[in-house]
Amino acid sequence: MMDGPLLWFLNRGTGVVLLTLLSASVVLGVTAIGGRAAGDGGGRLPRFVTASLHRNLALGSVLFLLVHVVTAVVDSYVDIRWWQAFSPVGATYEPLWTGLGALALDLMVAVSVTALLRHRLGARSWRTVHLLSWAAWASGVVHGVMIGTDLRDPSQWTRWALVPTALSVVAVLLALGWRVSAGAGRHRDAVASAPAREPRAAEAVR
Ligand code: HEM
Repeated sequence: MMDGPLLWFLNRGTGVVLLTLLSASVVLGVTAIGGRAAGDGGGRLPRFVTASLHRNLALGSVLFLLVHVVTAVVDSYVDIRWWQAFSPVGATYEPLWTGLGALALDLMVAVSVTALLRHRLGARSWRTVHLLSWAAWASGVVHGVMIGTDLRDPSQWTRWALVPTALSVVAVLLALGWRVSAGAGRHRDAVASAPAREPRAAEAVR
């Protein structure tokens, strides 16, 4: 176990970056892939470009989550055990807010695993699990706002975290509003009829 400012900086920094990437992925998923823009292009970026961006942003947030959790657990200044990173209940340090972070992590694991297995799952089961991204995002936001130094301590110059967090929240809420007004039915049809795997061209773009 280790201690010191580096781990703490890394933990806070990765928390904010991970939330920003996750929010960008949610916004892109709902506005560029689901709903109106699906399939047609219509003067926008082709769907396989936005789909691969959506996926890469999500992957990025998972990688930052890994560093976020490792730095939180390894840092002996706060008492967080390995299992507490995965269990929504029973944490020693800030039980409620650490628990919400763990819940967000569990949901992100479920969404990621089913996304990787998408071609083996029915569209309906994949989509049901994929909708848990909303809950993952919301738990992650509340966790970050309630536990994070950079968001809570008014005496810190590090309140820089307020800006990306506020932008993330506004962007996702706008996307949610757009999604609700665009109509749930059309979105469902568009997603259900989308190919389970992106065309090969998506690999070339990356
Ligand atoms: C998707 C899941 C998660 C997201 C989006 C997330 C995001 C964040 C954000 C934005 C902060 C605020 C950083 C700051 O203001 O300084 C934060 C802080 C923190 N997170 Fe997470 N987190 C997640 C999961 C977890 C998990 C599973 C753990 C437990 C191992 C954890 C432990 C912590 C701790 C201890 C802090 C406090 C850092 C400080 O002292 O300021 N997080 N997180």
